[in-house]
Amino acid sequence: MNAVLDVRDLRITLPTAHGPVAAVDGVGFTLDRGEVLGIVGESGCGKSLTALSLIGLLPEAARASGQIRLGETDLLALRPAALRRIRGGRIGMVFQDPMTALNPVMTIGAQLMEAIRQHTPLPRDAALARAEALLRLVRIADPATALASYPHHFSGGMRQRALMAIALAGAPDVLIADEPTTALDVTVQAQILDLLRDLRAELGMAVLLITHDLGVVAGNCDRVLVMYAGHIAEIADVRALFAHPAHPYTRGLMGALPRPDAQRLVEIAGVVPPVSAMPAGCRFAPRCPRADSQCRADTPPLRPRAPHHLVACWHPHDV
Ligand SMILES: Nc1ncnc2c1ncn2[C@@H]1O[C@H](COP(=O)(O)OP(=O)(O)OP(=O)(O)O)[C@@H](O)[C@H]1O
Ligand SMILES: [Mg+2]
Repeated sequence: MNAVLDVRDLRITLPTAHGPVAAVDGVGFTLDRGEVLGIVGESGCGKSLTALSLIGLLPEAARASGQIRLGETDLLALRPAALRRIRGGRIGMVFQDPMTALNPVMTIGAQLMEAIRQHTPLPRDAALARAEALLRLVRIADPATALASYPHHFSGGMRQRALMAIALAGAPDVLIADEPTTALDVTVQAQILDLLRDLRAELGMAVLLITHDLGVVAGNCDRVLVMYAGHIAEIADVRALFAHPAHPYTRGLMGALPRPDAQRLVEIAGVVPPVSAMPAGCRFAPRCPRADSQCRADTPPLRPRAPHHLVACWHPHDV
């Protein structure tokens, strides 16, 4: 087995007026060494909750069950102190908004040094050399100046690079990137995604790339997991998914891709249900053109449609 991360039957419940409800339910996947797995879905589908559960940063009221194996360790069974060592150590993370993730009153250097020394007991000189090397790794041209800078001196793209350097300080096996480019303008987005690809190749780490943008998935992922309302709708290799999308939701997302030949976006009618009002049966049924009474009554299991291609749908498209 090549999996660095093995998630099984992950269930994350949140309190509602009607009692706890599963915002993420029955999610399972593996992440192989050196692989980029995309998680895609509209806003509110449970992508971030899934990511946060991997690093023990769920909202306080949330409860997670199932299994999250990092090598031999079940992360859900760990105590907070042990999880803290893994977070920023074997698992690194970058988030959507690099400004809020950085401390505004500390220099980039101080924050990077703190991350380095938390995970490797280096003397100051060696830690400083490592900090400069990490900044060069994320293609920051003048590391010495960057170390002395405060976050507000940096552009959004530079901040995201600095955060990546911090995330890489513990030499992680897995990097979780939750909408890492959503807050950036298009040119900078492309540069950051290129950097992420290069780093994956240079360092051999696995990447979990979370996005609502199928365009980002197409150019940057090996495999993709499509999430809808806390359930997995479809998992496939990227090529197979784009060539033969089997779940009506995946097709809908593809219809929502802006295309040069299209006059405007074709969108899926309706919205993702809130946690407090999850429909019975297939959660996508109320928005699905193929839904019938079975869909509205029974939750479809995730089943193989082709090798390495799983779909949770009673009436999937042919693959
Ligand atoms: N702290 C919280 N308290 C209550 N509900 C929450 C909390 N965090 C998330 N939720 C709910 O859980 C569901 C999944 O949220 P999550 O943030 O995982 O979605 P997402 O797929 O990351 O969306 P986005 O694309 O907007 O980031 C949503 O319905 C959201 O409203
Ligand atoms: Mg999110």
